[in-house]
Amino acid sequence: MAARIIDGKAFAAEVRAKVAAHVAQLKEKHGITPGLAVVLVGEDPASRVYVRSKGRQTVEVGMNSYEHKLPAGTTEEELLGLIGRLNDDPAVHGILVQLPLPDHLNEALVINAINPAKDVDGFHISNVGLLATGQKAMVPCTPLGCLMMLRDVHGDLSGLEAVVIGRSNIVGKPMAQLLLRDSCTVTIAHSRTRDLPGVVRRADIVVAAVGRPEMVPGDWIRPGATVIDVGINRIDAPEKGEGKTRLVGDVHFDSAARVAGAITPVPGGVGPMTIACLLANTLTACCRAHGLPEPEGLTA
Ligand code: GUN
Repeated sequence: MAARIIDGKAFAAEVRAKVAAHVAQLKEKHGITPGLAVVLVGEDPASRVYVRSKGRQTVEVGMNSYEHKLPAGTTEEELLGLIGRLNDDPAVHGILVQLPLPDHLNEALVINAINPAKDVDGFHISNVGLLATGQKAMVPCTPLGCLMMLRDVHGDLSGLEAVVIGRSNIVGKPMAQLLLRDSCTVTIAHSRTRDLPGVVRRADIVVAAVGRPEMVPGDWIRPGATVIDVGINRIDAPEKGEGKTRLVGDVHFDSAARVAGAITPVPGGVGPMTIACLLANTLTACCRAHGLPEPEGLTA
């Protein structure tokens, strides 16, 4: 039987609508407008596109967007100075420093200078520790989006076998923590895993986040499993014409969709959820800052 295709675009639109409704309420009842500051250092074209998209969607849900575009030659001292001012600014509830940073800037130092309560990326070492110990944290956006989709498919995740392929700090590790918190039996697989096909075949839930185009074929997927494909890889597509490219995930979609119970496509799966969850995190940070109840269904 063909898998249910999980429509990340529609799901993300629902998340944004929930955020927008909650923001409208905050304004009306409390006179509070959540604010998100995005800091971009340098000229990386992909980062500029992301930042523009974040700014637009922030405004669309009724929040204030503060964009800080700094030249590639910005010193660590200057960047830390800006972060300090944003930490102290009560109109700013969320701070995101776009990665990657230019090589001369120490990423860990910069991220850990953000007030953890405003760290809407969930990358600060305090948030990493809070998540790992089951305490209230800011949770990284992409894994949060994956979790929302998995809860939508399965309801209760308790007792399910989950295999996360990839051990990055941004996706693999926090994804595993979230699944563990929802009482899955979690395996983190990676490039050194022995018998990766055998490990993946055990899974009720597969989250692929390795950044290798179409690495996971359909015959690794257990019939009926849910497949969440975090990969976004651009590959050559000579069939579309000379010099043309297309986006594919880490999973070979066509073969996996024939055996899975549910699967996210690429594009249009996990991708749109990341910014939606960034907005959800900004709203959560704002509610926490003001001692107000957190939005339901938008947190881990
Ligand atoms: N660069 C690519 N994705 C992300 C993200 O989710 N957060 C930040 N800060 N930078 C990124």
